Amino acid sequence: MVYILQICSVLALASIAIGAPNEKRAPTVYLAGDSTMAENGGGSGTQGWGHYLQYSLSAPVSNKAVAGRSARSYTVENRFQTLIDTVKSSDIVIIEFGHNDGGSLSSSDNGRTDCPGAGDETCKSTYNGQAVTVLTFPKYLVNAGQALVAKGAKVIFSSQTPNNPWEGGSFSYGPSRFTTYAQSAAKQVGANAMFVDHGQYTANIFKTLGKSKVDSFFPNDHTHTSPAGADTISRAFVKAVLCADGGVLSGLVKNSTASVEGACI
Ligand SMILES: *[C@@H]1O[C@H](CO)[C@@H](O)[C@H](O)[C@H]1NC(C)=O
Repeated sequence: MVYILQICSVLALASIAIGAPNEKRAPTVYLAGDSTMAENGGGSGTQGWGHYLQYSLSAPVSNKAVAGRSARSYTVENRFQTLIDTVKSSDIVIIEFGHNDGGSLSSSDNGRTDCPGAGDETCKSTYNGQAVTVLTFPKYLVNAGQALVAKGAKVIFSSQTPNNPWEGGSFSYGPSRFTTYAQSAAKQVGANAMFVDHGQYTANIFKTLGKSKVDSFFPNDHTHTSPAGADTISRAFVKAVLCADGGVLSGLVKNSTASVEGACI
């Protein structure tokens, strides 16, 4: 009996030793963002689009988006650091911020507003009675992206979802500056990063769907969507990725490009 147990444990150790180096592990897709992406992020009757991504991917999705966060507060609360510590080689992290990153630091600091600018600029500010140094939106993204890539992960910088583009009566969508910043962050992080213009893909689908349908996606305000709206926004993301031949999600999307609504841009 003891002898058999010993053989078993030797075999178990051997298989761990043999299995470990070349082991093909299934990647996990992590999501970092705000309420528009988070599980039940926008309050009652709403859903974040991150919830629906699991249905289009063959990899597990771990939604770490948190309502109310900006690139800055997600950084300061060590949420990016937790992801950096968690990811393993070939995991993918989708980063989408912007809704909470605007505003001004000059009158009062809400802990979320970034320093204006596209590069290494810094702002001195006071938050919660503490003197703080605030970085620019792209700087927070690039810092996180480079650290994630250094761990062997791949990163998608995604532009923020549109507020209801039909709220003024006729359709109107213009990308925010955070779209350009997300694009430039992807360039700076390099080959293991890509940019997805999620905002534009979503806006194009919203234009086709028309005012009454899209208005129904925004039950409470012009930012947070119903479950049906979030599903549409998730599918817009998948379409954008498929139109880039899968990019860093290559081989992980279940759906064919033609089967997903919307048009490649
Ligand atoms: C992909 O197909 C699944 C069903 O297999 C569906 O639930 C999902 O919404 C589809 N995704 C897109 C982007 O159309």
